[in-house]
Amino acid sequence: MQATAKAHTNIALIKYWGKRNESLILPTNNSLSLTLDGFYTTTTVTFSDGLQSDEFYLNDERITGIPYARVTKFLDLIRNYAGQQLYANVRSTNEVPTAAGFASSASGFAALAAAATRALQLDVSEQELSRLTRQGSGSACRSIYGGFVEWEQGSKDDGSDSYAVQIVPEDHWDVRVAAVVLTATEKDVSSREGMKRTVDTSVFYDGWVNSIPHDLEQMKQGIMAKDFEKVGHIAEANCLKMHATTLGAKPPFTYWHDSTMAVMQTVQDMRAKGIPVFFTIDAGPNVKVLYLPQHEDIVKKTLRESRGVTDVILSRTGKGISYK
Ligand code: DP6
Repeated sequence: MQATAKAHTNIALIKYWGKRNESLILPTNNSLSLTLDGFYTTTTVTFSDGLQSDEFYLNDERITGIPYARVTKFLDLIRNYAGQQLYANVRSTNEVPTAAGFASSASGFAALAAAATRALQLDVSEQELSRLTRQGSGSACRSIYGGFVEWEQGSKDDGSDSYAVQIVPEDHWDVRVAAVVLTATEKDVSSREGMKRTVDTSVFYDGWVNSIPHDLEQMKQGIMAKDFEKVGHIAEANCLKMHATTLGAKPPFTYWHDSTMAVMQTVQDMRAKGIPVFFTIDAGPNVKVLYLPQHEDIVKKTLRESRGVTDVILSRTGKGISYK
């Protein structure tokens, strides 16, 4: 009753930012992401009747507290689904700087869902796996697939029509992402808490939700046509709109540091010099920069020189779930 799965993280180009149902993790809008080859989690799950409770190790360290509670809660869901009650030993290795805006929960819950269902020999389709994964962490449901992926919000109360679908596979288009690391410290406001506060209190929230259908349609056209300028401009503007909603919340907050804004400026300066590059930012200070392969050297060099940058990690488009 053991299985190992690997899942890559993903970066949203149209962000998921808000829930209509918190316990089932149902979003207020469709989102669209790119799966990243460079950041992944490998997880081995072993169910055993010799265990008195679940155990969770991340990078060989025993995890307790809230991250442990999220894992056991998710395992309860899988146990419920499978109709059995065995506890599990979970061992994860993260090739993602945890909680620094790199959505390690995305690769984490996708790998956990895949390994746990495989360990129990459950015959689940990728769609079903995405639906299950969504209930661990919303953005994780997109990491079941490689390439460009859309999470369809669905309209049903039970969440049965809320799951991810692949738009195009990873070999459709060689778009790259530079992850600009500014700080590896934990963020102050988690994405879960931040999006809740925004939905509940932000005076800008309706504007955000209403703008999504148009962004999504344009984004999909851009991806199909491999129109980098179009995709980049929509992604950057969508990210800025998401972050604007946090400033209209009560109390207001932002994920940006001064070095975040310095990198944003660096990206826009590069663009003014004719290099097509665009940024996007999740619920943390770090910046991800979209670029094309022919500009890799100049992008890496320029970002490294930007104020407050400690590392620049380059990634290609990644694959979906795999098993070992
Ligand atoms: C800003 O998926 O981490 O990265 O569903 O509460 O676990 P929960 O939230 P999470 O939120 C990700 C938010 C985001 C945008 C995105 O990835 O679409």
